[in-house]
Amino acid sequence: MFKWANWFGRNEVEKDILSPNGQIKCHFMLKSGQISYSVYKNDKLIIKPSFLGFLICGEAPLGNNLKLIREQKKKSDEIIEMPWGEDRFIKNNYTETAFYLTENKEPHRIITLRFRVFDNGVAFRYEIPPQPKFQQITIQDELTEFNLDLNTIAWKIPAYQPDRYEYNYEKSIVYDLKNSVHTPLTLKTPNGFYLAIHEAALYDYGSMTIKLNDRYALKSDITPLSDGTKAHVGLPFQTPWRLIMIADSAIELTTNRIMYALNDAPTSDFSWVKTLKFIGIWWAMYVGEWTWAPGERHGATTEHAKEYINAAVRLGISGLLIEGWNEGWEGDWLENGINNKFTVATPDFNLEEVARYADAHQIELVGHHETVGFIDNYENQLEAAYNYYAANHIHYIKTGYAGSTMLINGRREFHHSQLGVKHYQKTVELAAKKHICLDIHEPIKGTGIERTWPNLLSREGARGQEYEGGALSPSHACYLPYTRLLAGGMDYTSGILDLANSVKRMATTLSRQLAYFVTIYSGMQMAADRPFIYEDRFPKEFDFIRQVPTNFARTIPLAGEIGEYYVVARKDRDSEDWFIGGVTDETSRRIHIGLDFLDSGAYEATIYADSDNAHYRDEPFGIIHQNKHVGRNESLDLYMAPGGGFAIRLKKP
Ligand code: NOJ
Ligand code: CA
Repeated sequence: MFKWANWFGRNEVEKDILSPNGQIKCHFMLKSGQISYSVYKNDKLIIKPSFLGFLICGEAPLGNNLKLIREQKKKSDEIIEMPWGEDRFIKNNYTETAFYLTENKEPHRIITLRFRVFDNGVAFRYEIPPQPKFQQITIQDELTEFNLDLNTIAWKIPAYQPDRYEYNYEKSIVYDLKNSVHTPLTLKTPNGFYLAIHEAALYDYGSMTIKLNDRYALKSDITPLSDGTKAHVGLPFQTPWRLIMIADSAIELTTNRIMYALNDAPTSDFSWVKTLKFIGIWWAMYVGEWTWAPGERHGATTEHAKEYINAAVRLGISGLLIEGWNEGWEGDWLENGINNKFTVATPDFNLEEVARYADAHQIELVGHHETVGFIDNYENQLEAAYNYYAANHIHYIKTGYAGSTMLINGRREFHHSQLGVKHYQKTVELAAKKHICLDIHEPIKGTGIERTWPNLLSREGARGQEYEGGALSPSHACYLPYTRLLAGGMDYTSGILDLANSVKRMATTLSRQLAYFVTIYSGMQMAADRPFIYEDRFPKEFDFIRQVPTNFARTIPLAGEIGEYYVVARKDRDSEDWFIGGVTDETSRRIHIGLDFLDSGAYEATIYADSDNAHYRDEPFGIIHQNKHVGRNESLDLYMAPGGGFAIRLKKP
């Protein structure tokens, strides 16, 4: 039988796609039926020729028998306005080419590869349209390579480990990535480029981890399902975007916003979403004063909740998180979590009464659902649980997924598998319907979906301050801006000022705890210590915590190196004020900051900095308070002690 596809199309193709300013080049190749790509900046090689394709269960590999039947080009030059975040405006400026490919021989499957080349990165995705005899497929493997020089430096956390993303970052080289690591994977090439490999718009697929393959190229390792496959999908299907962020410096990388640009605009009204700062019935459990479980020292009682609401009012903080309010925390809660009830409060906690009290005092309650990864139990109650909160005017929920895996459909699955990804998405979409915002702990990593679902205000998804008391070094918070935070905001539970607490000693200085409110963005930002610590011991420091915004108009990274230090300035979305934060590792540093990013006119600077003798171990409370007038022609010299930092508020009088 005559088949047009047998003679139409080209078998050997090489095409360049140039970014709008011409500096980034993606080179697409089709050679002997195999597709591949490479990436250059200013003609310097960044990604060597890298193969693309799929293994599909019960089918021949897809990707090595192809010819090009059509190619389609597009350009975009638009500015996206984000409802909240680190930058109000984001550029979506790229050159796109879609390559429509078909197989040379039976079964003549078709696949599209869509590339978008930005001035600061390259993204591409696979799209598989529905086709005869090929409608439901099971992905056995995705063969995407990111073929880098083996001496490229990599800052990694391991994948498939019991504590999910909650690991310390380690510096190594690509040659050592024999076991899978998570993305964003931050890299520095021998020719001096800073890269991050990540993905955008992850909705119905396993999360991408990365490791070396047998030809020593980095390759996608999609998180598997318990049946050993990577994903079951119906056609049409498109993978998340594979994203390579490219920068000339470490700090330039930190404001790469392509991930958001690759996600779609929201389809409904989210004007009800508001970022939030909150305190919580929380740290008292970590330092052993209260418990999650009912009993003599139960934290979430009606009485404590009312006291904390009164404290929030006095402190000028808008929200209150209450953990341990529901049935299920008795005994070993990690073991017993399968019975957690999300609509039943403990006898000493009257949710309706507390909610009315919060309403009367204009405090937003942040509800809490600790699922312990028992997804079947949670999903059975999901609608009722969200309705219960919504009926009590609770518009924020912190969710949690403690546990090394999840129980989904009676089987143990990775949090980052296709089934995990779909569960998190279900919570986001249901919450949106009920006008509820989420802060997801033990989450799926950020892939920019909060552009489409702005009610997803924050995530954890890295080691946070709950690990203090021994497991966090001062370098950790100096890695985050260059690694985890490339995937979006994080609830780091900042602002713990009781640094010398014998149960949970902090490896930071006092001013560094303030700096975190600027260096670690979160749409739901927790002032994590107990209120009496703020009121009785650190009222002056708390002024900064109260004043620092949770929504910024602009972010300007000023200085830093990965894992060593980070200094950033951010302008408030709702005023003319600027805020600057800096953090350093174990090494003390002096920093000179030019203020030419400020608008014209005078500012009143309130500075919280480490004293000369401050030290995260020996003198954590060593702080200097300074006030002065500055303008855009001036500069500031600041000292950061070992494990220290600084915070500055610049207010227009
Ligand atoms: C881990 C979360 O990160 C933490 O914030 C929470 O308190 C516990 N799980 C209990 O839900
Ligand atoms: Ca956690």
